[in-house]
Amino acid sequence: MRVLFTTSEVFPLIKTGGLADVSGSLPAALQHLGVDIRILVPGYPSVLNQLAPLTHLAQLSELPVVGQAELLMGTIKETQVKVMVIKSASLYERAGGPYADANGMEWLDNPVRFGILSKVAAILSGKNSPLKDWQPDVVHCNDWQTGLTPAYMKLVEHTPAKSMISLHNMAFQGCYAPSWLPTLALPSTHFTLEGFEYHGLLSFLKAGIFYADSITTVSPSYAKEIQTAAFGFGLEGLLSKRGDEIKGILNGIDTKEWNPKTDTHLAKNYSATQLAGKAEVKRALQEKLGLQVKADAPLLGVVSRLTHQKGLDMLAPIVQPLLDLGCQLVLLGGGESELENAFRHLANNHAGSVSVNIGYNEPLSHQIMAGSDMFIMPSRFEPCGLNQLYGLAYGTPPIINATGGLADSVINTNIITYKNKTANGFVLSEASSASLLSCIKEAINVYKNDAAAWKQIQKNGMLQNLSWDKSALEYLAEYKKMLQ
Ligand code: ADP
Ligand code: GLC
Repeated sequence: MRVLFTTSEVFPLIKTGGLADVSGSLPAALQHLGVDIRILVPGYPSVLNQLAPLTHLAQLSELPVVGQAELLMGTIKETQVKVMVIKSASLYERAGGPYADANGMEWLDNPVRFGILSKVAAILSGKNSPLKDWQPDVVHCNDWQTGLTPAYMKLVEHTPAKSMISLHNMAFQGCYAPSWLPTLALPSTHFTLEGFEYHGLLSFLKAGIFYADSITTVSPSYAKEIQTAAFGFGLEGLLSKRGDEIKGILNGIDTKEWNPKTDTHLAKNYSATQLAGKAEVKRALQEKLGLQVKADAPLLGVVSRLTHQKGLDMLAPIVQPLLDLGCQLVLLGGGESELENAFRHLANNHAGSVSVNIGYNEPLSHQIMAGSDMFIMPSRFEPCGLNQLYGLAYGTPPIINATGGLADSVINTNIITYKNKTANGFVLSEASSASLLSCIKEAINVYKNDAAAWKQIQKNGMLQNLSWDKSALEYLAEYKKMLQ
């Protein structure tokens, strides 16, 4: 089976969040199952640099706006997965991030940048593909950036291949003025309710959901949640029409990249049977960040985008009472400036107890995951979430709000779950500061007063199989279902 996996970010080439982690590790797991898979990604500078030397595959022509682009191919060293890259200097080769400039301003030509990503995937799966020796059976799209692909496949390229869209976050939809339709060579006859129109705008994500042959999302709970007004971001009606078809498949993790036994970013490696090294990682982290070196101070870790979704505005107001209990806090993240400032302010006022690191830092994210005692993730919604899974793997029990993939992966500690050895974290009773505080207090109580129980909870998480083993098989089953 041949699969074209199209995405706007892929670890380790380019990453802003969990989509990159999934795009790096799921194709590798599928390849391991015998799928002939290739990733398609825009040629951002970091992609071109890391994959060099790239080989020329084909010249792409008749593209909107730019006319031509070059299709190159390289291989991700770590996984040996092949990556096809769209090289277009004017579209993708600029300083800044994949979606926005260095100041966080979205690129104004994103409709073209991701319209062309969508279009190229459709071309490569159709009769007019310049690739004569590699035609996919399935095109696997991810999020709004690739949402137009199923529309181009059905309405323009008339491809024999089947399309799947995986929904990683309904909060981002790619909605643009209808004046983009002719630019992107989309048939205006389909700019309707039964098409890609959404409240007078062209919606990339709606196009994907409407025209894809198969819809998946990244956890079973989120598959149900997105069919309700609270989580569907306006597309719940359309999603519930296809409700029975939407399959929730929990993300796995890359167990090579995220493994405390082998992680090269850590001062010391450790495992479920040799947990002692974790204390050394904590000590190194405290030293590095200027926190007081205290082995018994519960160290709370956060690695996150700082947005409403992640609920960290609920954490800021309870930092003082947590410090009064002897806790320390380390945060790594970036996003909304109000939240960044609130945490910066806390760090300034509590040097030695609070460390706030604004920005993106891959090694530090591993060190926090390993060096903290608890991982704080009170998201208001969370399609899957990878950080709580990393917390489980690193013996850093997650403290989470019961939503989406968090609810599907974290089991609250109570007498029953402790006895049957499933307890692996702590779950809020509701999304509020008060509930977050009382949940963290519960965790601290176990941490301080019952070392054996704490160790058991850590081990329960560390010994779980968090890899793609099971979920990659579920994707494969979905591909096969489409092709029947
Ligand atoms: P989301 O994709 O919604 O941001 P996930 O939990 O699925 O949330 O994935 C987030 C990924 O991004 C994780 O790999 C996490 O470690 C990483 N990450 C988030 N913020 C940062 C940061 N500031 N520095 C380094 N890595 C980060
Ligand atoms: C999105 C979601 C996150 C999920 C990730 C990968 O970024 O916010 O919950 O883990 O995609 O699927």
